[in-house]
Amino acid sequence: MKEFKILAVIVALVGITYYGIEPYAHSVMHPEVAAADFTFKDVKNVDTTLAGNVENGKALVEANCIACHAIEAAGHPAVMPNADAAASYGVVPPDLSSAGRIYDTNYLANFIFDPVTAMHLEHKYTPDSGKQFPMPSYNWMTPQEIMDVVAYLKSVAPKVSEDKEGHKATFEAACGRCHNMKYAGIEATTPTDNLKNYMGATPPDLSQYIKSRGEHYLHSFINDPQVLLHGTSMPRVGLSEKAQEEVIEYMEEVGDSKKAERESLGLYVMGYMVVFALFAYLWKRKIWEEVH
Ligand code: HEC
Ligand code: HEC
Repeated sequence: MKEFKILAVIVALVGITYYGIEPYAHSVMHPEVAAADFTFKDVKNVDTTLAGNVENGKALVEANCIACHAIEAAGHPAVMPNADAAASYGVVPPDLSSAGRIYDTNYLANFIFDPVTAMHLEHKYTPDSGKQFPMPSYNWMTPQEIMDVVAYLKSVAPKVSEDKEGHKATFEAACGRCHNMKYAGIEATTPTDNLKNYMGATPPDLSQYIKSRGEHYLHSFINDPQVLLHGTSMPRVGLSEKAQEEVIEYMEEVGDSKKAERESLGLYVMGYMVVFALFAYLWKRKIWEEVH
């Protein structure tokens, strides 16, 4: 009888910790954040239902974009070394090879139309701030022309593998102009001094952010940084849900590479406990049998 009382007390204490204290601590340390919105419905200047024309898009991109952006996948190398590009624009314009694959279509079309509102950086580029976003708005293009550009970017985007290498390519295309990832040997294409000047803050090294912030926070943060860090200079990047998952997966592969191992080890430990408990019980019975 006494054993049962002890067991009941232990079960009650574990229950209170597990269902009461732990969720409470979690809710204080990681407050509930709005779920990521992959429709980007706040930007809707371009009718994205229009079917784009790849040939026309190619001509528009060659006339308007490759003066700043490399598109290696289509045979357009960068026009100048990274250091010079950073000095001219503040940040190195990303290679657009993967743009058609990684950005959400609605975001991408509206970004080309008006980069500052799509990135949620209106607070930084107010008319009296004296600052100008380095990429021009293409709001003079018709919605059809913008969709032609999008169609062309989609047509040149190389397929990537569904593994760590593929995830890395997505990370570098989306975040690599600003963030280092030292644990994976990735250095931002823009030199740190330029970044600090351009952004007003140094983008942190992302090697360990999966551990300090967790997957849920990252999903919401990348999708719309302003919601979680009001006034931050980190732009909204506008990734599709799939590309964003690849980026976070990569951060996990680099920052928490032992996760799968740790989780599978848990099962072995539990198995060991069960076997151990069985032997302990049999042993106890044997001892008491001898005593009686
Ligand atoms: C005068 C140089 C310049 C031209 C011309 C230019 N861009 Fe950019 N673009 C930039 C810079 C600089 C950035 C990075 C800005 C930043 O991260 O703050 C950028 C960023 C981008 C991004 C990344 C958006 C994101 O959410 O991360 C895309 C996509 C893009 N440009 C597409 C285009 C397309 C398409 C064209 C042609 C229609 C074009 N750009 C023309 C300089 C330029
Ligand atoms: C144009 C530059 C730029 C790009 C592109 C960019 N970031 Fe950032 N990021 C920043 C800056 C600047 C900060 C620091 C913001 C601050 O201190 O307000 C930051 C901060 C962060 C933080 C820290 C947030 C926190 O809670 O402290 C994370 C995580 C992050 N970025 C992830 C990403 C990921 C993932 C990508 C790619 C999908 C990305 N960033 C793309 C500039 C950028």
